[in-house]
Amino acid sequence: QLTANIQNYHFNHILLNAAGVMCQTSMELDTVLASEYTGAVVTKSATPLVRPGNPAPRYYELNNGLGTINSMGLPNEGFDYYMDYVDTKETYKPIFFSIAGLSKQENIAMLHQLQDADFDGLIELNLSCPNVPGKPQTGYDFEATEQILTEVFAFFKKPLGVKLPPYFDIVHFDDIAAILNKFPLAFVNTINSIGNGLVIDQDTDTVVIKPKAGFGGIGGTLVKATALANVRALRDRLNTTIKIIGTGGVTTGRDVYDHLLCGADLVEVGSQLAIEGITVFERLEKELTEILTEKGYDSLDDVRGQLKIM
Ligand code: DHB
Repeated sequence: QLTANIQNYHFNHILLNAAGVMCQTSMELDTVLASEYTGAVVTKSATPLVRPGNPAPRYYELNNGLGTINSMGLPNEGFDYYMDYVDTKETYKPIFFSIAGLSKQENIAMLHQLQDADFDGLIELNLSCPNVPGKPQTGYDFEATEQILTEVFAFFKKPLGVKLPPYFDIVHFDDIAAILNKFPLAFVNTINSIGNGLVIDQDTDTVVIKPKAGFGGIGGTLVKATALANVRALRDRLNTTIKIIGTGGVTTGRDVYDHLLCGADLVEVGSQLAIEGITVFERLEKELTEILTEKGYDSLDDVRGQLKIM
């Protein structure tokens, strides 16, 4: 009964990987698809051409499970690789095809290819990659966000959602929601990593990742409160036809439950999937089921969006 729907796509489980984690190669994508406990898979954000990404070390796990920092720099196998993958894959599970062009033109070009292809899954337009030197996030430029969505929806007819960066101001929640509500989006995915944090190694007084002098996107437990606020704020403001994928700070079943309370339809796991591996999905689903049983709920309808305020 732990299911979800986005338009006419049905998800038999509510958990899946967050883009970037366990989804760059066909072997990794197969691993996520093969799990009994995932409802879907999302592909590593693609650029038109293959990219090696930033120099290593470019990913680091903080002590005590606090979270992660990364500046991967969009390493990916290139758009055609993921197109070939989804073309040849026979699966009943929905696939989210994530794209992150380095310019509006690159995104529009990839979306034209997706529009013209046989691909019948969902498309996630990533407006929030913080890790490419010299490239600002579109999601923090509201005019640019409205502009690209206007151009995209002039021709794009397949189910499309956007991956958003975290917002930290109530007026920004209002403003981004007002823009997103102008378009027939299938979903929004919130949040991407909290961009450009800095982690220091205590023994060596050195940054822990090499790119961008140590600056990188923060994920994991550290970002949970921000993720929940973004899910909640957007659920309150977006048209009900726009579903919400909650991402950020999920390490336990309770974290999944909290995302659901805030209004998430699906929940993604990034840092903790990187840390724990594919078995994380079984553990999280079991922990969530225990919470639901304890509370006497037999449907997620009893939970979704049911956060209480004082
Ligand atoms: C990368 C990081 C992101 O947060 C993202 O949305 C896309 C790409 C990266 O560094 O590879």
